[in-house]
Amino acid sequence: MTRILGLSGSLRRLSFNSGLLAAAAELTPEGASLDVLTPKGVPLYDADLEAAEGLPPSVVALKAAIASADGLLLATPEYNNGIPGVFKNMIDWASRPAGDIARLFGGKPVALVSASPGGLGGVLAQDAWLSVLRTLGTRPWFEGRLMVSRAGALFDENGRLRDEPTRERLGVFVSGFVAFVRAQPGSA
Ligand code: FNR
Repeated sequence: MTRILGLSGSLRRLSFNSGLLAAAAELTPEGASLDVLTPKGVPLYDADLEAAEGLPPSVVALKAAIASADGLLLATPEYNNGIPGVFKNMIDWASRPAGDIARLFGGKPVALVSASPGGLGGVLAQDAWLSVLRTLGTRPWFEGRLMVSRAGALFDENGRLRDEPTRERLGVFVSGFVAFVRAQPGSA
């Protein structure tokens, strides 16, 4: 089984990005699974808190999920042409302590998707993630690209991706990423 962990960068109940990952989970190819986590429950990073108490339980669980995943699929909203703070905060916590970065992120296959009600679909947030992914030593997958623009028209009132052409693009994207993950040395 190829295990993909989907990380949504939104706390919003009807988040387009969480909806994108829910659809991706339905579209994963045979022999692959996709679980989804959001920043819910992850406190603001505070070095004093870390020094006094260590990692919060939500971060310990997040790190365990990242460590056991074969690949990460980040679904990022775009705020002010950048990465939303809650999403960056989640990854910043997961990068602590720094000595654990290589174990968690080193060579880890990562793909990016984004959704936005705007016309550019979050492309600048995707770009902003690149330096973070490089710093963490991940192995980004660049062959597929998916920005979902005008998202308000593509999801229903329950946050489900209902637009068939977008679902098809997402299915192709997820299959491509899973193939990339499976092609990594040592992959089962
Ligand atoms: C936004 N939004 C937004 N959209 C975009 O395409 N480019 C941008 O720069 C911004 N900037 C921005 C700033 C702030 C503070 C907010 C709250 C929102 C709109 C954003 O894409 C929209 O709220 C999405 O619905 C967020 O993603 P989720 O929560 O639906 O996954």
